[in-house]
Amino acid sequence: MNFSEIPKTELHLHLEGAAPPAFIRQLAAEKGVSMDGVFDENGTYVWGNFVEFLATYERACEVLKSPEDFGRLVTAVLEEQASHGVIYTEMFLAPDFCGGGDLVAWKEYLAAMTEAALASPVEARFIPTCVRHFGPEQARVTARVTAETAGGLVTGFGMGGDESQFSAADFAYAFDIAREAGLGLASHAGEVEGADSVRETLDHLRVSRIGHGVRAIEDPALGKRLVDEGVVLEVCPGSNISLGIFADLQAHPISALREAGVQVTVSTDDPPYFHTDMTAEYRGLSESLGWTQDDFNAINRTAMQAAFCDDVTRSKLMAKFNGA
Ligand code: ADE
Ligand code: ZN
Repeated sequence: MNFSEIPKTELHLHLEGAAPPAFIRQLAAEKGVSMDGVFDENGTYVWGNFVEFLATYERACEVLKSPEDFGRLVTAVLEEQASHGVIYTEMFLAPDFCGGGDLVAWKEYLAAMTEAALASPVEARFIPTCVRHFGPEQARVTARVTAETAGGLVTGFGMGGDESQFSAADFAYAFDIAREAGLGLASHAGEVEGADSVRETLDHLRVSRIGHGVRAIEDPALGKRLVDEGVVLEVCPGSNISLGIFADLQAHPISALREAGVQVTVSTDDPPYFHTDMTAEYRGLSESLGWTQDDFNAINRTAMQAAFCDDVTRSKLMAKFNGA
């Protein structure tokens, strides 16, 4: 199999976390912003654990200061996506870094990102995302600006950040605002925290997709709930291994979850931070876990079914994964 050429759908990619290191260094040089401590001597992002990863990520975001910067970033990331065979992608992006919750500013950022995405060969949608460790109040601000701009490429609302902070219930109101606006809902859970975190997220945020969710494997009753309720997991194996949640693909639960009937999809999360890309993810699943073209078609159909897009787009793209 030529892994880069297999058509792919990616549902879980952070725009800021996908920023190529050279892109961030270039912007830092243009603006005279210090990136000390962000990169190692090989020019890759430096972090040692999950909390440090989030801190480096936020440091790198300090150079993204204008709508134009974000437009350029969307172009760079979607070009990279296309080179790995991605034909449909949903990008998480944090309005906190795009004007800090000011609606007028956010609309300018969104216009620049939309223009860049529409000019790219990849069909893209945006999932504005609150950052859990910035707290519930800021999450409500993020939900409000997202709801104000729902439509166009803004089709979902999500939550990332430090899963150990606050409880899912604290964010229920933010997710209610987004649900009311007709947006698709997704939240990180069951990545660095266990099954209880996934359960609370389902109970209080009522999302159709869980970012990661892989630690649901620790609780068979929760696995059954995911199957029964048709919850889709955005699984990012390379990210989980890089963060030390599982030692390697053999120890990763993606195949076990799938065999238990849980709907799984495959994404990269923050590719340069985790030294991965969609080609590497597919190659790993094939070489380490024996996944075949049929398996890849199946997970891509699952992803298109769960995608936050209109039905015309869904059927058009679904046809690419029918196993022909
Ligand atoms: N933001 C970017 N990547 C993330 C991850 N893997 N977990 C939580 N928040 C994130
Ligand atoms: Zn993520």
